[in-house]
Amino acid sequence: MSTPEAFGADWLALREPFDAAARESSSLLVARLRTLRPGPGPWRVMDLGCGTGANWRWLAPRLGGEQHWLALDHDAALLSAWPLSAGAPVPLDEPWHWRGVRFDATVLRREAELAHGLQALPWDAVQLVTASALLDLAGAEWLDELMRRATDARATLFFALNVDGGHDWTPTVADDAWIGELFAAHQGRDKGLGPALGARAVPWLKQALRERGYRVALGRSDWHVRREDQAMKIAMIEGFARAAIEQEPTQAPLIRAWRARRMRKLDWGSLRVGHLDLLAWPAP
Ligand SMILES: C[S@@+](CC[C@H](N)C(=O)[O-])C[C@H]1O[C@@H](n2cnc3c(N)ncnc32)[C@H](O)[C@@H]1O
Repeated sequence: MSTPEAFGADWLALREPFDAAARESSSLLVARLRTLRPGPGPWRVMDLGCGTGANWRWLAPRLGGEQHWLALDHDAALLSAWPLSAGAPVPLDEPWHWRGVRFDATVLRREAELAHGLQALPWDAVQLVTASALLDLAGAEWLDELMRRATDARATLFFALNVDGGHDWTPTVADDAWIGELFAAHQGRDKGLGPALGARAVPWLKQALRERGYRVALGRSDWHVRREDQAMKIAMIEGFARAAIEQEPTQAPLIRAWRARRMRKLDWGSLRVGHLDLLAWPAP
């Protein structure tokens, strides 16, 4: 789930605990993923659109063992904001080592524009291609190229936290459904990777991967924004309203009225945001 504004470090920090909790509910996929470890050597992983490293922080301890990560993003500020261990800063493009309780990882953060640069990535050198909160931002053409390059390399794919279009507010207020539709339409705008598939990204990729001879498993990773999660609820309400107004500027007064109704429910409302995780691997 991404609000329409740019992916600032503050927004990524706000969402990280919701993402982490949501991913626990699809941990069966990670158990399956662990069985796909290619061999005794380090697992070579490429993280697309890594931001400030949330996918690495969640996944690396659960993969376990020795790992070499290549973490890519076009935003150098986000790459530089990874919370690395104390001591001298580690420049981009230099390996950083982290020894966890059951894993040992080397991470290389690299600035990379993925919109037109997929061909330059080291497909033959990676065994697992992963991303979190990225697929729904992409269009079919870009996803098709990503899938072709990854499947040609026989890589395993693990894409977490892709929206499925569901937003359930409790309690409901008038116009929730309409605002949700405007938000979904706004999500389909081009974010740099082609007109975004949004909630259609996972079904699209699942079908395409099966046609390429891959096995595909899905798991739910819904956000549960509770009554007490005020900062996230405010961010969501503001994000929905902003997107809806951009989508339907002539309806701004009605959309602001929805925002005001939602804000009045802030102290006791909750929100579920639907997400899916996708794991895919080559059929033997
Ligand atoms: C919603 S954020 C997710 C970040 C991170 N994976 C996480 O889960 O916190 C999407 C990320 O994709 C990156 N991104 C978007 N378009 C990109 C592009 N064309 N090339 C490289 N990175 C891109 C953004 O900079 C941002 O860090």
